[in-house]
Amino acid sequence: MVPEKDNEQKLLDVVFKLINVIICLMLLAAALVYVNFCGVPEIFLPSKVAVADAPAPAKKEKVPAAPDVWIAPDTLSFPAGAEGELLRYGRALIANTAYYLGPEGKVQHSSNGMNCQNCHLDAGTKPFGNNYSAVASTYPKFRERSGKTESIYKRVNDCFERSLNGKALDTMSREMQAIKAYIVWLGKGVKKGEKPKGAGITDLAFMDHPADPEKGKMVYVEKCQSCHAAGGDGKMNTDLVSYQYPPLWGSHSYNTGAGLFRLSRFAGYVMSNMPFGASYDTPQLSAEEAWNVAAYVNSQQRPAKDLSMDWPKIEGKSVDHPFGPYADSFDEQQHKYGPFAPIAEFKKKHKTK
Ligand code: HEC
Ligand code: HEC
Repeated sequence: MVPEKDNEQKLLDVVFKLINVIICLMLLAAALVYVNFCGVPEIFLPSKVAVADAPAPAKKEKVPAAPDVWIAPDTLSFPAGAEGELLRYGRALIANTAYYLGPEGKVQHSSNGMNCQNCHLDAGTKPFGNNYSAVASTYPKFRERSGKTESIYKRVNDCFERSLNGKALDTMSREMQAIKAYIVWLGKGVKKGEKPKGAGITDLAFMDHPADPEKGKMVYVEKCQSCHAAGGDGKMNTDLVSYQYPPLWGSHSYNTGAGLFRLSRFAGYVMSNMPFGASYDTPQLSAEEAWNVAAYVNSQQRPAKDLSMDWPKIEGKSVDHPFGPYADSFDEQQHKYGPFAPIAEFKKKHKTK
């Protein structure tokens, strides 16, 4: 009978469906056991493959970028004997200048208590940390500030007399010989005349408006004061010989003839290195903040240097040298705080050399 046949068919259908469900459950269980012990097979992971692929191009861009930034030779490769001793002493003088040559120095008292390393970070080896990579390769070098071709000795003594607001070292002293030997050793892998990527200080693009000391003060309070102190005078180590946090202004800071007193040098240095721990590839300030804090710090009191012998040719002055007279018609205010682009433009047009 038709209805009976229908019932039989229905029963069979149900049984088949049940069997199907059981088979499916068993397959699922098997799959779970497999995944549990062996992990998800790769072909089922399109998204994971995509994620793994995505950073690869970025990595590829980064890997070649790293080696073309200068890397200092390893100090483990200092030669043995007297030469190695001299290099080690040179490095120690850069890192702990105050211990040897500061106001309480054990060799002589010829500087303000700062260390070369305060500004030439990691003993002059940090990329864009004002390192010494291009010194051996580019000195002796003609410099507009002195109007002379300068030796490494002269350049080192410039920093003693300006950045360390102190006295020049005798060229033949063991200290100067050691400092020079170390700086030359650091640059030994750089070809004559070349300046590797990462040398010296970051050159920031000029802003189209002047840097603002008032806004810079806010940056200082928020991001610098915790270490460099409210009065800008830093903090001494407990030995009272050297600084834990070096001064940014006041009687123990760099003087008005120092490189950092130029806004572009200060802003570029800070951009790639401050707050302490920042680097050129992990900056913590915007460029605007760096210019503004430079304007604030360089508006504070600091030792004055007699600069009457500097810049024998005034048209050679850096755009951000803050003291006239100038070969252009921009005033001291603009030469100090910017905007610098119009000055640079003028300089380019009137280049005499
Ligand atoms: C307050 C910061 C400061 C301190 C401290 C300091 N310097 Fe400098 N030094 C600078 C700046 C800024 C420059 C110029 C960098 C530029 O214009 O790119 C410079 C440049 C130099 C250069 C030339 C680098 C080049 O590539 O042309 C040498 C060499 C040097 N300093 C050695 C020393 C030595 C040695 C000491 C310690 C006795 C010292 N400096 C301490 C800030 C400092
Ligand atoms: C966490 C502490 C810390 C903070 C925050 C910090 N600094 Fe520094 N700063 C240091 C130390 C430490 C050094 C010396 C580095 C060395 O000797 O290795 C230094 C060195 C400097 C120097 C060169 C040496 C000198 O005294 O002239 C300048 C300029 C400077 N800092 C500016 C700044 C500015 C601007 C800020 C804020 C944007 C800042 N720092 C924030 C710790 C700090």
